[in-house]
Amino acid sequence: MSTVPTTNRKLMDWVNEVAKLTQAANVYWCDGSQAEYDRLCQDMVKAGTFTPLNPKLRPGCFLARSHVSDVARVEDRTYICSKSKDDAGPTNNWANPDEMKTMMSGLYAGCMQGRTMYVIPFSMGPLDSPIAKIGIELTDSAYVVVNMRIMTRMGKAVLDKLGATGSFVECMHSVGAPLKPGQADVAWPCEPDPAKKYIVHFPEEQSIMSYGSGYGGNALLGKKCLALRIASSIARKEGWMAEHMVILALTSPAGKKHYVCAAFPSACGKTNLAMMQPSLPGWSVKCLGDDIAWIRVGEDGRLYAMNPESGFFGVAPGTSDQSNPNAMKTIVKDTIFTNVALTPEGDIWWEDMGIPAPAKAIDWEGKEWTPDCGRKAAHANARFTAPAAQCPVIDEDWQNPAGVPISAFLFGGRRPSTIPLVNEAFSWEHGVFMGSSTGSETTAAALGKAGVLRRDPFAMLPFCGYHMGDYFAHWLSMAGRTDRSKLPKVFFVNWFRKSPEGKWLWPGYGDNSRVLKWICERIEGTGKAVKTAIGNLPTADGLDLSGLKTTPEDMKQLLAVDPEGWKAEIADISANYDKFGDKLPAALKKELEGLKQRLGV
Ligand code: OXD
Ligand code: MN
Repeated sequence: MSTVPTTNRKLMDWVNEVAKLTQAANVYWCDGSQAEYDRLCQDMVKAGTFTPLNPKLRPGCFLARSHVSDVARVEDRTYICSKSKDDAGPTNNWANPDEMKTMMSGLYAGCMQGRTMYVIPFSMGPLDSPIAKIGIELTDSAYVVVNMRIMTRMGKAVLDKLGATGSFVECMHSVGAPLKPGQADVAWPCEPDPAKKYIVHFPEEQSIMSYGSGYGGNALLGKKCLALRIASSIARKEGWMAEHMVILALTSPAGKKHYVCAAFPSACGKTNLAMMQPSLPGWSVKCLGDDIAWIRVGEDGRLYAMNPESGFFGVAPGTSDQSNPNAMKTIVKDTIFTNVALTPEGDIWWEDMGIPAPAKAIDWEGKEWTPDCGRKAAHANARFTAPAAQCPVIDEDWQNPAGVPISAFLFGGRRPSTIPLVNEAFSWEHGVFMGSSTGSETTAAALGKAGVLRRDPFAMLPFCGYHMGDYFAHWLSMAGRTDRSKLPKVFFVNWFRKSPEGKWLWPGYGDNSRVLKWICERIEGTGKAVKTAIGNLPTADGLDLSGLKTTPEDMKQLLAVDPEGWKAEIADISANYDKFGDKLPAALKKELEGLKQRLGV
C-alpha cells in the first residue's frame, strides 16, 4: 500500500516517530488481504525463512525454522512496568517505566535499518464485538505479519473501525537485527543474546514494547501481551476478566448444551481439551477457543466468554490422531509450522505424531536427522499456526460478538500425585482458592527447567499484568457483580495422576469426556457426589466408566483423598501465599484454614 490508509492522526504520528527512531528502510501498511499474505509468504520463501511444503500433502503450508536461541517465551525477560513496583507484584519483573522507555529507545534506535517496518492493524475479538480491542503492531518481521493474520482479525477493516479518532494499544516490535548496506540477511533474524531480549508492558498507558525475539508470544503481540497482560489490567479496572482459558461447548445425547472455560498452565493439553473427540457415545465437544477467554457479566447476570483470537498457535509435538484428531484435521492446509521436522516427501513430522518416524528427515535446526541420531527431530515447543475456522469442530457461536454463557470453570495442571481426577468446589470462594493454588510440572513452553512443580495461579503466572494478590481479589469480587446462583460452578481436574510405580492412572484425551459428563450432571443437579474435606468428589458409581479398562483399584487412587499428600500440598500453597503479603485476600486465608481443619492437619 503506497498511501497512508488512515486519517487517525495519533496513529500517523506514532508510525512516523517510530520509523524515524528505528530508521526503517520502508514503511508498509498491511491491508490483511489474501494477496498480501501470499506475497509475503513467497518473499519469505525467497529469503529462506519459509520452506513451502508439498502442495499435494499440505497445500498452502510453510515450515519456518527459528534461530536456536529463539524458541519459546522468555519469562525472565518479560516486564510489567507499572508506575509503582507494588502494582506489578511479586510474580512479575518490574522496572521503572521511564527508565525502561529510555533503555528501549536506545535499543530501537536504528534497529530496523535495511528492513521494512510493517504496520499491522489488528482486532482482538470479532470486529463487531463491543468488547473487542484494537491494537497496532509495528514490526520488522514478515513472519510476524503472516502469523498475526491467522491469529487476529487484521488489516483494512480494523483501520476503518478505528476511524480518525479511535484509540488503540501501541504494540512495538523489532527482532533487533538491523542490516548494514549490502549485508546479507539470515533466515531467522533476532538478537541472539538472551540478556538483550525484552518483552515490556506499560499497563497504565496500555502499550507494549518487544525487542530481540521473533518467536510466538514474544512477537505476536496480540496474544499474551495484549489479550492477557494488558487486558487483565484493563479488565480489573472495568470489572471483567481476561483469562488463560479454553472455551468449549459440551452437548449431551439429550441435546443439552453447556459452555465451559478451562485454565491449564502452558502445554498441559489445553488445545487437546478444547477440540476433544469424546469417547462417550452421543456426546459432542465444540471448540470456541484454545488459549484465551475474555469474560463479562451479561445482561442476564451470567458470565459470557469470548475468544479474542482467530487462530491456534498450538504445540506440535504430542499432537496426533490419538491426542487431538481435530487439530490434525485443522492443520491439513494453510498452516504455518515452526521448528518441526521436514520429511523427504516435503511433509512435516514431530515426536509422538502417531505415525512412524521417517527413515531420515531435516530436523528443526536444519540438520540431517535419522531416528537413531540421539536428537529430537522437532523442538519440544515447535508450533503450528492455523486458522480457527479450519477446525472441524469449531462452534457455530465462536465469533458471537457477545460471547457465550459459561456454566463451569475448570482448573487443572500436570499433577502426578495428590490431586484427584476431578473435584468440585463448595462455593465461589472455594473455587477461587482452587484457582489460586493451581500448580503444574513445568514444560517446554517457556525457557527453564522442565518437570518441577510450579505454582501457577489460574494458569496466569506468566500472564497477569498486575499484582497477583489484587488479581485474586478481583476474582473474588465477581461474586458481588451478579447473583451468586448465576456464577459458574468451579472444578479442579487432573488428567495426569500417576500410580506410586509411575504408571498413568487415567487414559485422558477422549475419555476426559467422562469427567465432563459428570461436570454437566453436577451443573444440572443430577451428578452423584460425596462431600470430602477437599471438595465434592464423584461417588464410586458417579462417573460413567462404561467400556473403560481402568480398574476399580486405579479409580480408587484417582479419587482418593490422601492426607499426607495434602499436608505437603497445604504447606506448599501456604508458602506460595506468603509471597503476596497483605495483598492476599482474607477470604483465601480462610479457605486455607478451613481446608486444614477439615483435613485435621
Ligand atoms: C501458549 C503458552 O503459547 O501458554 O499458549 O505458552
Ligand atoms: Mn497459552
